[in-house]
Amino acid sequence: MLSIQFIIILLLSSVAFSLKIATSLQWIEHTPQPYAIKNFYKGSTSATLTSGGVANLGSDKSVDLAANAETQGLKQYASHKNIRLIYMICEASYRIVANKKSGIKDLKDLKGKKIGTIPGTSAGVFISRMMNSVGVKEYTTVSGNVCMKAPCGSGTFPAMMSGKQIDAFGVWEPAVELGAKALGDDAVIFQNGSIYREMYALYTTTDKLNDPAKRKDIVEFVKALNRTLDVFNNKPESVYQFVANEVGSDAKVIADVWEDHKWSGRWGDDLLDLLVDEDKYLATQDKRASATKADLEKFLDTSIIEEISGTQSK
Ligand SMILES: *[C@@H]1O[C@H](CO)[C@@H](O)[C@H](O)[C@H]1NC(C)=O
Ligand SMILES: *[C@@H]1O[C@H](CO)[C@@H](O)[C@H](O)[C@H]1NC(C)=O
Repeated sequence: MLSIQFIIILLLSSVAFSLKIATSLQWIEHTPQPYAIKNFYKGSTSATLTSGGVANLGSDKSVDLAANAETQGLKQYASHKNIRLIYMICEASYRIVANKKSGIKDLKDLKGKKIGTIPGTSAGVFISRMMNSVGVKEYTTVSGNVCMKAPCGSGTFPAMMSGKQIDAFGVWEPAVELGAKALGDDAVIFQNGSIYREMYALYTTTDKLNDPAKRKDIVEFVKALNRTLDVFNNKPESVYQFVANEVGSDAKVIADVWEDHKWSGRWGDDLLDLLVDEDKYLATQDKRASATKADLEKFLDTSIIEEISGTQSK
């Protein structure tokens, strides 16, 4: 019979040695990770998701991986130069929904209006980019909460819009979808993925990449993610309910916003320039120096993807 001490040691070591991943557990973009762990991950230890993000890589040595939008990645890279972006999980084309009753037909009609968003996040960057694209600087941003499922309570953007506290809002899904549904025919949508799209990525540190045992499990996790994205891209109807359960939403709403999410698994040549540009904006906001292009080139590490491409048969 196993002694209780032995069982405790076993439990402790399995926690200590498991692949620890810090991620928001609330957003659609994070869901390939639980799916990958449940269905495909074959590392030397278990993999566990903990609530958090890329900031935890800098503050907690037990965290091996983290997932977040590029915005948080850049903010952390500014003071933790050992952080690396290693895999692109999702590119999400955010949307603004506006109320036609506020006299809004075009994006530039948001001049002088109240726009709901979450400052200091990718949603804040999105609003700034969209408004810059039409040369409008005069508008007020209003903070609020997202909503994952109707009915949306007070303090959430869809409720604030129905209550006329804001004229429009822009944030990640499915809040925009729920806001649009609440407005019905009065809703007008603005979206342009080349002006802004969220780059929801997987991060680690050079220390983890240089640790051979850890690196092996990181490779296994990315392989599992790659198989997951295949399912997310090619059999989406098989995962709507899973995704809805993970984030506390409805499968129907998840299906409706699916096309705004690209489960890319890799990044294009334009990513570096997008990051250079975004970091300039964030540096001003955070009152720090912006990273150079050469510096941000180091932030992007393709070695894990290359390793997988070399070893995976399909
Ligand atoms: C998106 O923005 C780009 C860059 O401003 C512009 O060239 C393009 O026409 C826009 N696309 C749409 C569909 O509005
Ligand atoms: C991921 O899987 C796809 C097939 O779904 C494959 O074509 C692609 O090369 C894989 N990517 C990597 C980085 O291994």
